[in-house]
Amino acid sequence: MSNPSIKDLIRNNLSIPTLPEVVMRINSLIEDPDAGTAEIGSLVSEDAPLAAKVLRIANSAYYGLSGECVSTSHASTVLGVKVLKNIVTQVAVINQFDHLEGNDYFSVSDLWDHAGFTAHLCSKIASLSTVLRAFTPEELYVCGLLHDVGKVVLMDGLGERYLDLARTAAEQGHSMYSVERASLGFSHTDVGAVVASRWGLPEQIANGIQYHHGPRSEVAKNVVVSIVAHANLLAHRVKDGSPQTAAAIFDPETCTQLGLSDEAVDSLIEFALDNRHVRMT
Ligand SMILES: [Fe+2]
Ligand SMILES: [Fe+2]
Repeated sequence: MSNPSIKDLIRNNLSIPTLPEVVMRINSLIEDPDAGTAEIGSLVSEDAPLAAKVLRIANSAYYGLSGECVSTSHASTVLGVKVLKNIVTQVAVINQFDHLEGNDYFSVSDLWDHAGFTAHLCSKIASLSTVLRAFTPEELYVCGLLHDVGKVVLMDGLGERYLDLARTAAEQGHSMYSVERASLGFSHTDVGAVVASRWGLPEQIANGIQYHHGPRSEVAKNVVVSIVAHANLLAHRVKDGSPQTAAAIFDPETCTQLGLSDEAVDSLIEFALDNRHVRMT
């Protein structure tokens, strides 16, 4: 983790979202040995607008279901409670920032599409990896989902000032990460790591968020960080018009670190190309 004073500055000046209540309730049901998938499905169905959005995502191309899920109980049976929990988390987080409006340089809905896409790529890499042992694909999904959440927290807290930074980044051809650091002294990665620790996520997951733009030394020494960093890069490459260069991200050194065979990389790239246009909102 980086300098603790930066974390304090962020906690004191920005409104850090809490873990959505519905996710907390699902967590306690998952831990309850008397509760089953049906209970978790019916808990989600109590909130009709939430349930409708959850079903729309569950039925999206990402999950490749053969038939349509018609209820959240059905979705929890077909997809499993952990996957359903991740979809609920995604919808609930997006809902928390419903009020935000971006501009030509910062689109909130594009950001969520990117977050969802990166989350799926993280989960896919995690499931293909032969070396990742301590974390599940579902945990990596959350890491990918939240990797850029700091951007919406910053947009929420700084408003026009953040939109100005987005315009500067676009006009000067710099990344948001570097513009944020130059003008604020910290970036969305620091903010995202604060969100992760507030949610009680494991430190390595918080580190995945913290270091998804580097430094390279962190990416090289930590598989979780490397998965998020490479999933983020892959998401940008296949989305922003250079899909043919996507495979180049996975050089022999990276494949060895992540435990990915050539076939695994092929299947990952195919998954990325098939799903690059799926919308989240
Ligand atoms: Fe980022
Ligand atoms: Fe990103």
